[in-house]
Amino acid sequence: MSNPKRFLSGIQPTNIPHIGNYFGAIKNWVKSQDEGALEAFYFIADLHAITVRQDPLKFKEQIMDCYSLLAAAGLDPDLEKTAIFAQSHVPEHSELAWLLGCFTQFGELSRMTQFKEKSEKSKEGEVNVGLFSYPVLQAADILLYQANYVPVGKDQKQHLELARNIAARFNQAYNDDVFTMPEPYITQNTAKIMSLSDPLKKMSKSDSNPNSCVFLLDDKDTVIKKFKRAVTDSEARVEYRENDETKAGVNNLMSIYGAVTEKSFSDIQKEFDGRGYGDFKTAVGETVFDIIKPIQEKYYTLRSDRTYIDTRMKKGADKAAKAARPTLCKAREKIGFLHYII
Ligand code: TYM
Repeated sequence: MSNPKRFLSGIQPTNIPHIGNYFGAIKNWVKSQDEGALEAFYFIADLHAITVRQDPLKFKEQIMDCYSLLAAAGLDPDLEKTAIFAQSHVPEHSELAWLLGCFTQFGELSRMTQFKEKSEKSKEGEVNVGLFSYPVLQAADILLYQANYVPVGKDQKQHLELARNIAARFNQAYNDDVFTMPEPYITQNTAKIMSLSDPLKKMSKSDSNPNSCVFLLDDKDTVIKKFKRAVTDSEARVEYRENDETKAGVNNLMSIYGAVTEKSFSDIQKEFDGRGYGDFKTAVGETVFDIIKPIQEKYYTLRSDRTYIDTRMKKGADKAAKAARPTLCKAREKIGFLHYII
């Protein structure tokens, strides 16, 4: 991150974030703020979350939980360069999404892997237009801020590619660099943390098996128990073997342990040589809890301070709107809307 730039990313508030969200994305958000970013915009994607019906009272709490966790993980809303906010507080997102939707092909959205997977799993009558046009809103989130880097997990890569295609199409239509071309910012080894109960599947907030996922607010016993139950293999050998499906569980645990301890796969292999999986799983659980414990402590302090959350969220939204407005105005002007109604 030698060239300081604008970073942006988002997270859905649909459950407590898990260690996949943390190691795949949030850790890099904090790093961008502390090391590389000229400006950092991180938001709670509450508009994206309503493609599934949410309980209104619970939803409000989840948005505040998620906000407090981001702050507890190290994003600092009091820093000049950082804005943490709720997407729905900045209506420019929705407006740009409509404009960009008119620059997006039906076929492009039909081919989105996440849409195909989610719509296949849904019952009839549950696949709404929001789920279909979800990636257009995501493109608007990114392009609105002229973001250079978007720190995400691997599952968002296709959405990023679509955002780039839409930006290029719009820029070409008006022969001007209205939108900056965003780059994904992905950390290889933690780009996709897998489910602990089925290591061929991504760790996901919406997984119905509670043992598949370690949430950032799980207590120590729960964290260790979940790692002890993690599916591995019968070989009892802590060894990383890329593309070997039988080793998917061990590969995943080694990626998590490596992310926490910053040890290489070969060092981890040496450390647990001949010791079997029991010791290894306990060590992964303990080191992971060491990372999340201080986050939890800070979280409970911040979460009980409603004034802190309200004032910082408002400040974040104001900062974000100020950065977003010029881009939206430029896009409107290019399209040919009249000026005076803005
Ligand atoms: P969401 O809420 O599913 O996830 C938030 C971030 O966590 C990453 N992630 C993972 N990384 C590694 N391993 C995993 N198992 C794992 N699960 C999730 C995701 O890649 C993501 O970076 N559509 C987005 C939210 C969004 C967004 C945006 C992101 C809305 N607008 C604009 C970037 C830019 C989502 O649902 O993320």
